[in-house]
Amino acid sequence: MNTRINLAGIEMKNPVTVASGTFGYGREFSEFFDLSKLGGIITKGTSLKPRSGNKPTRVCETASGMLNSIGLQNPGVEYFAENDLPFLRKFDTAIIVNACGSTVEEYVELCKILNTLDIDGVELNLSCPNVKAGCMAFGNTYEGVKHVTSEVRKVLDKPLIVKLTPNVTDIAAIAKGVEDGGADGVSLINTLLGMKIDINTRKPVLANNTGGLSGPAIKPVAVRMVYQVAQAVNIPILGMGGIVNSDDAIEFMLAGATAISIGAGNFISPYTSVDTVDGIEEYMKKHNIDDINDIIGKVQMN
Ligand SMILES: Cc1cc2nc3c(=O)[nH]c(=O)nc-3n(C[C@H](O)[C@H](O)[C@H](O)COP(=O)(O)O)c2cc1C
Repeated sequence: MNTRINLAGIEMKNPVTVASGTFGYGREFSEFFDLSKLGGIITKGTSLKPRSGNKPTRVCETASGMLNSIGLQNPGVEYFAENDLPFLRKFDTAIIVNACGSTVEEYVELCKILNTLDIDGVELNLSCPNVKAGCMAFGNTYEGVKHVTSEVRKVLDKPLIVKLTPNVTDIAAIAKGVEDGGADGVSLINTLLGMKIDINTRKPVLANNTGGLSGPAIKPVAVRMVYQVAQAVNIPILGMGGIVNSDDAIEFMLAGATAISIGAGNFISPYTSVDTVDGIEEYMKKHNIDDINDIIGKVQMN
């Protein structure tokens, strides 16, 4: 049975990765299971300089999901390179750095540094809804996405995957910008912009007022978008949004994802990602599938 996949030039032992911002840099989860069981780890969003993020309250629960407005808190790329990367490299799993910035120049400077590090690839975050500048501001037009992608491409030789926001009208048109900008893959979806109000205080629960919705509540939106993007581009897709078990993972792969990420599911149980790896193998045995690649994009539309 083959579970190996190749995502945008990155070889992985299985299609299961953990989504940026929900797994830190892996240390806490390594106390629960061997991180080498994962196909890959997408790091927390990492920027050129350290960021302290937004004020609390930064997360809250919602029906079948959660809202967050972390605001890309992270220690910066230098700290990551010296402290977190050596730890992550102890494991036999692909390491993909989620890169974020406020200006095109910042993305380019950051990716120049990432190009020199011992990492397997970069997931360029053009999609965070919780910061005032950058990220989603570039991510919601074809031109914006193509421009940032092509500028980063000039300085990055490693596999480049661009992560998109679902807070747009036509996701397929925007994914075209990723492909035309020269990226090797596209990642979707980031969180959907949402809000929760405390009816007693009449104030939004999150200090930032709005935040990004993730978890099972967003899965049907994500599956639809993965399917639409798979029809529109020829580069591979890293699919995510509400995946909490292997059935969900298979659904995304049938829709067209080559690999998947588990985000909010890591907060339900620290074992969600490894259980998903095992569940995919069980599904393959049950359905006599020799190679996991055979199910990618194999949804049969009505
Ligand atoms: C607490 C939290 C922090 C996140 N931080 C990042 C981040 O730093 N960079 C990024 O690209 N996405 C970030 N995301 C988005 C996730 O990687 C993922 O795209 C989204 O949550 C949808 O997947 P899910 O429903 O499985 O959580 C974050 C999500 C959560 C819940």
